[in-house]
Amino acid sequence: MYVLGIETSCDETSVAVLNDKRDILSNVILSQDEIHSPWGGVVPELASREHLQNIDFILEESLRIAGLKIEEIDLFCVTQGPGLIGSLLVGLTFAKALSLYFEKPLVGVNHLHSHLEAAFIENDVEFPVLGLVVSGGHTSIFYLKRELDFNLVSKTRDDAAGETMDKIAKFLNLGYPGGPIIDRMAEGGDYERYKFAIPKIKEKTLDFSFSGLKTAALHIIKKEKIDKNSNNLKDFLASFQYAIINYLIHNVERAIDMDDTSSIIVAGGVARNRELRKRMADFSKSRGINVFIPSPKLCTDNAAMVASLGYKLFLKGKTISYDASAFSRYYINNNENISLPQLIKKYK
Ligand code: KG4
Ligand code: ZN
Repeated sequence: MYVLGIETSCDETSVAVLNDKRDILSNVILSQDEIHSPWGGVVPELASREHLQNIDFILEESLRIAGLKIEEIDLFCVTQGPGLIGSLLVGLTFAKALSLYFEKPLVGVNHLHSHLEAAFIENDVEFPVLGLVVSGGHTSIFYLKRELDFNLVSKTRDDAAGETMDKIAKFLNLGYPGGPIIDRMAEGGDYERYKFAIPKIKEKTLDFSFSGLKTAALHIIKKEKIDKNSNNLKDFLASFQYAIINYLIHNVERAIDMDDTSSIIVAGGVARNRELRKRMADFSKSRGINVFIPSPKLCTDNAAMVASLGYKLFLKGKTISYDASAFSRYYINNNENISLPQLIKKYK
């Protein structure tokens, strides 16, 4: 059996092919970084137009690398949400058309769940699992007692971790996306030079809030007259990155103290960050819990994670019908099969 995955939730167009052992036969990712770079952030309308223009040749390339013809694909899986609605609709409509024409089943995949799935492609992960998804759009903690049992424990109430890094990098004119730039530029900087407090939300919650860290960073930038060329930039970026990582680890630690946890997964674009990977490994060692962080290519948005999770859902009979809609936000008790009529009912 061959499984094809499609991912277009934000600004990467990706198509992957896996076999039924979930080996990756191809995982082609086309990044739109160059398109969005002049604006310092993803422009939704440009993103969907690019997906529309590129999706068919990314499909062809993915099939070529896998050495397969489209007729040999047995199952189509696609990211249904959350994400940018225009971008999602390109992938979802494309996947629906393929499924309909070739008369093969279609599975809709939750983007955040698929980020965590990336760790399962490469590792045998023992349950219960605490999963941290850190990306440009989300900072969320999930608890999984068993396979596919995704329970959202916490989310960000404002900016996501990656978004915060992207915005500060934009403010300093460092380029886009800011996360990898900060990762590189912070290397060797004095992370103790500028102090950031761990943000506190008054209620007892594991939710994140990054807007305070962003404001504190802007305050330091102004007060210390930090700019692109100043000598203190490296130390500032190291301190800022350190603060974000401390905050992520702080909430993960609080979460694992609440329930039995055998493994931690850290996934999503920000999980490419070298300092975060190192600090997470040190932290989990100190707590005697295994940590699984996907290899960098599987941290960024990619379709292999979609195909892998989609295949598992297919085995549980979770296919979607052609009236299934894309969804832009993560719903609690999210039903992947949610259809437009159900959505309308829910929000009436
Ligand atoms: O998961 P992803 O590819 O797309 C979303 O679903 O958002 O994540 C993109 C985010 C961006 O904010 C980018 O700056 C961040 O991941 N990122 C990083 C690194 N590489 C990508 N952040 C910190 N360090 C990195 N090395
Ligand atoms: Zn993502």
